[in-house]
Amino acid sequence: MSANEPNSEYDIVEPKADSLIHSIRSFGYDLSTALADLIDNSITARAKNIWVNFQWDGAASWISILDDGIGMTQEELVKAMTLGSKNPLLPRPANDLGRFGLGLKTATFSQCKRLTVGTKVKDGKIAVRCWDLDYVSDCGQWRLLKKGSDSLGFNSIGDLNQGTIVLWDKLDRVIDEEISDNRAHDHFLERAARVKKHLAMVFHRFLEGPNPLKIWFNGRPVTPWNPFLINQQATELLTVEPLFINGKRIEVRPYILPHHSKISQEDHIIGAGTKGWNDHQGFYVYRNKRMLVAGDWLGLGFPKEEHFKLARIQIDIPNSLDQEWLIDVKKSKARPPQNIRQDLKRIAKLTRDRASNIYRHRGKVVSRISSTEFVYLWQQSVKHGKISYKINREHPLIRECVSTQNDTKALDSLLKMLEETIPIPMILLNYSEQSDNIKGPFEDEPPKELIAVLEDSIKALSNQGLATLEIKKRLLAMEPFDLYKEQVVACCEKLEEGRK
Ligand SMILES: Nc1ncnc2c1ncn2[C@@H]1O[C@H](COP(=O)(O)OP(=O)(O)OP(=O)(O)O)[C@@H](O)[C@H]1O
Ligand SMILES: [Mg+2]
Repeated sequence: MSANEPNSEYDIVEPKADSLIHSIRSFGYDLSTALADLIDNSITARAKNIWVNFQWDGAASWISILDDGIGMTQEELVKAMTLGSKNPLLPRPANDLGRFGLGLKTATFSQCKRLTVGTKVKDGKIAVRCWDLDYVSDCGQWRLLKKGSDSLGFNSIGDLNQGTIVLWDKLDRVIDEEISDNRAHDHFLERAARVKKHLAMVFHRFLEGPNPLKIWFNGRPVTPWNPFLINQQATELLTVEPLFINGKRIEVRPYILPHHSKISQEDHIIGAGTKGWNDHQGFYVYRNKRMLVAGDWLGLGFPKEEHFKLARIQIDIPNSLDQEWLIDVKKSKARPPQNIRQDLKRIAKLTRDRASNIYRHRGKVVSRISSTEFVYLWQQSVKHGKISYKINREHPLIRECVSTQNDTKALDSLLKMLEETIPIPMILLNYSEQSDNIKGPFEDEPPKELIAVLEDSIKALSNQGLATLEIKKRLLAMEPFDLYKEQVVACCEKLEEGRK
């Protein structure tokens, strides 16, 4: 019975080429994730060099990715151009960055309408195939062309002994045709710059190391962006933990990045990466050293907050756990399996606590008021569910002021007024937008300002009849003097001298 003869048990229903080919344009890639998918293929093909080129030529602009990997025979190329060319359920070699047999096609069509691939195996001849969506739409058939774009960029494959070139043109999703050529050109260059940064991040572990891969972007090398600033002395690595899923090992490496005062301004800017310090906190999931997730708390219930921004945790997973981690075609998402979520939560919490301590080192505020030892000037109060901030009337300086006033009413009013008019919205806004520019207590002020306040505090404690040692102890447990140990010790020594 031939394949086309009617069958009583089933109908053969072929997908309609002209409709489906347009639907697969909507996988949700952006230009960076799409190009990263092609770089995956080049790395899997054991490329040592990858050349990415963005060539502006108005509506005829093109983007190419050339690699010196093992290339494909003509037969392999035709298979590679097929949608779903490999079964995602089959095991793959440990260093294979692919899974679905789709990326080359889905990534391409999310950005452009013509894909031309030229490839050659060592000492072989060039094989060429091309998908042209306009042509498929017109003829309504899956016709894979044997000749592709004749863009200039395509010729570069000729210089290599082996390798593959992927050329994109008809870049309808990359080029804004409605706007003027000049502005469209600028957009094109901006997008190229973003892609370069993305590749520097996603493939940083391939670009680092003893035998590094080289990615050339319009002729210039891409330098890796390491999210953990591992070359900085002040970066801390907490305990590395192996975890097991179905007997397969993953590794978790929690890093605390340095406080900005411990690194140069330039390194601080580099550390901010493409998304900024706050957004880059959380887990970094790597599959075979390729970054899938660039800072996310993986749905474990932790919000991204400013004071946890120094926490970045590396997780390494093998490609044999793709199903468990729900890896998607775009390789831009991963969800931890249920049985390790508790462990990840525990590690995240520890890392966040440590990161928050480092972060707060200079900007101590009111949040530690629960401590009985430590004396705060400001206290948080919650009444009928409403939060407010009160000045601690038991603070030695306040007590001293109260006790030396004949009429304490004016002082009371002043304190009340201060409490009622704290510019909370402004503080919050500044804190979230430029926390690094908020001055710490007595930072950048002449030392005598600090000493004057310190001496008044010593006087207040002294008037309570305390011994010098006790005064010193209390001052060291009082903000902001806990940050100025040397000055406290010196002033207390002076007090002791005076008392003798
Ligand atoms: N640059 C390349 N060099 C050599 N072979 C390649 C190259 N690009 C693609 N291939 C071959 O084409 C196949 C299909 O690639 P495609 O990206 O569509 O799917 P995949 O990489 O197998 O899986 P995924 O959908 O997860 O990316 C690859 O498995 C590989 O065999
Ligand atoms: Mg792929």
